Amino acid sequence: MTRRLILDCDPGHDDAIAILLAAGDPGVEIAAITTVSGNQSIEKVTRNALQIAELAGLDARIPIAQGAHRPLLREAEHAPEYHGESGLDGPRLPEPTRALDPRHAVQLIIDTVMASEPGEITLVPTGALTNIALAVRLEPRIVERVREVVFMGGGVHVGNHGPFSEFNVAIDPEAAAIVIDAGWPVTMIGLDATHQAVVTPEIRSRLDAVGTRSAAFVGELLDFYGAAYAVYGFEHPPVHDPVTVAQVIDPTLVRTVRAPLAVELTGTHTLGMTVADLRAEAPEACCTWVALGVENDRFWTLVESALARLP
Ligand code: BDR
Ligand code: CA
Repeated sequence: MTRRLILDCDPGHDDAIAILLAAGDPGVEIAAITTVSGNQSIEKVTRNALQIAELAGLDARIPIAQGAHRPLLREAEHAPEYHGESGLDGPRLPEPTRALDPRHAVQLIIDTVMASEPGEITLVPTGALTNIALAVRLEPRIVERVREVVFMGGGVHVGNHGPFSEFNVAIDPEAAAIVIDAGWPVTMIGLDATHQAVVTPEIRSRLDAVGTRSAAFVGELLDFYGAAYAVYGFEHPPVHDPVTVAQVIDPTLVRTVRAPLAVELTGTHTLGMTVADLRAEAPEACCTWVALGVENDRFWTLVESALARLP
């Protein structure tokens, strides 16, 4: 059965690859794309989403809506050091021709989930969890109706925003807590896994050989993204966000364990840390999973195939 996804994102170089993977893989279908403030301002990431949709030749009937312009409680924070001033610096992108959906992203998420069969929609957030948290508060019935939430964020043993906190969770920890505690099945694709989804020179050659416009775009964005990560000591840049989509397409790619999960909301040095209790087998009622690793080679095979199917 084709899995229907709502991609809630802040594109973002790695968000862009997540969108392309979902657009090009026959195992999933994009039900909607929604944007959230994160890597750059909401206006910039929304424009980027429209441009990526244009480049990928995404069906114009797939709605794209703009979401939250800042986190629930905290000031907006962006990541120009990794994504540049536009949020997607580097590649050349076509002008968007499609219009934004007039609804707020939170409303589009609720409408899409409530209009679908129970268990049909999977939420795939790859930015701060602000929109999803607001949707849960505005229409709590979505919790029962969504099949599962597979989000990129957090980490068990590693941070990138702080020593123990990851950007998407750290910039809106209260939203992350609402989403993780909601009671639906949640899989956290954190840095433990995504730091293994890296672009080695061999992977880069494989991507360059694909030959489509979408693959050329990925090459251009990786030039900028790889240079940005090199400043922080990464020999090979990790692409975080598409690991979520890959996990939905083929769960055997990602090693996950079921474990109680919480977000630190009061820590002096650990605000935004995701705390997974791995000490013992999880209790029966536990509905949170954490990713601990990904098979890099097979992950990129999936991305390559998707890029080959796109314009
Ligand atoms: C996450 O932060 C963003 O910069 C990336 O797009 C990714 O979602 C990695 O910490
Ligand atoms: Ca992102």
